[in-house]
Amino acid sequence: MNMKTETLNGNTGLEMTGVDRAVCHTDVDRLVINGQADMNIMYPVKHTFAKQKYDEACANHWMPQEVNMSPDIVLWRSEDGLTEDERRIIMRNLGFFSTADSLVANNLVLAIYRLITSPECRQYLLRQAFEEAVHTESYVHIIQSLGLDEQVVFNMYHEIPSVADKANWSLGFTQNIAKPDFRTGTFEKDQELLRDLIVFYLVFEGIFFYVGFAQILSMGRRNKMTATAEQFQYILRDESLHLNFGVDLINQIKIENPHLWTDSFKQEIIEIIKKGVDLEHLYAIDSMPNGILGMNHELMRQYLEYIGNRRFKQIGLPEQYPGVENPFPWMSEVMDLKKEKNFFETRVIEYQTGGALDWDEDED
Ligand SMILES: [Fe+2]
Ligand SMILES: [Fe+2]
Repeated sequence: MNMKTETLNGNTGLEMTGVDRAVCHTDVDRLVINGQADMNIMYPVKHTFAKQKYDEACANHWMPQEVNMSPDIVLWRSEDGLTEDERRIIMRNLGFFSTADSLVANNLVLAIYRLITSPECRQYLLRQAFEEAVHTESYVHIIQSLGLDEQVVFNMYHEIPSVADKANWSLGFTQNIAKPDFRTGTFEKDQELLRDLIVFYLVFEGIFFYVGFAQILSMGRRNKMTATAEQFQYILRDESLHLNFGVDLINQIKIENPHLWTDSFKQEIIEIIKKGVDLEHLYAIDSMPNGILGMNHELMRQYLEYIGNRRFKQIGLPEQYPGVENPFPWMSEVMDLKKEKNFFETRVIEYQTGGALDWDEDED
């Protein structure tokens, strides 16, 4: 029996095993979408970008509970430690992020994963899904440490328009491909998956996170809410890897399926990214109605256009906001944690020697 014809939902990895399937797959079979490689055999790796990013992600392992939240708890509880505008920024961002990473994870697990037919790309998706769980846990840890009203914070993605609009706009792209009978293999369906990947990797993770990251990290640079800022810094480091994986994934699909990248599709993607910039600008206005922390929403618009231009360029589209410069050059420094204290190097050593691998209870 040929497994290529017996499956109802594409090549998923759940097909029965058997000697008739014990074939040596070639590069031709191993494709990001619509591939016929055995999904349970990791060798030979073709999409090396996925393996590299998987290794890099594992080397950056961290857990939210390891950040000492005490300074933020003291500051949050003090009467005059923070202005109302600063408190609004904290509340809005915890409201947005505490549900956002779960939306990303659900898109990964319930929509994208089944449709990606490169085993090494799936390995990365599994790692990313775990990291999204860590991020959600990080936001919950901050919310609980500060003693915030959980109902207010978690309901923001239902109740606050600037938060709800980002979530609902993105969900519109994932609902159809998450249907159990959705499968790729036609021009329209393949474009639908590619569109979802661009929305989630380039817009949701690549634009919708950046106002919040800039606001919280700017606060940290001013010595306020430093523990929260530290958590955001580690999350940002993971997110920039997610974004870069997404860029590679999208570009690889383009290479393997050049017919999908039509002029009208390119124009549609340009409009999608521009819409993402506009939605995030509305979030900036709502979360930061007054100038604060060396920022205001006009500068934030400039920053978003700068980021938008980068996203266009990363997938081979022309920049749409000519001549825009980065108003927050310090953000790129913050993103590169290698310049910071040897946090991760120390951490990795601890995990390997004193923590997870220390099985013998008799040892000190
Ligand atoms: Fe995340
Ligand atoms: Fe992410």
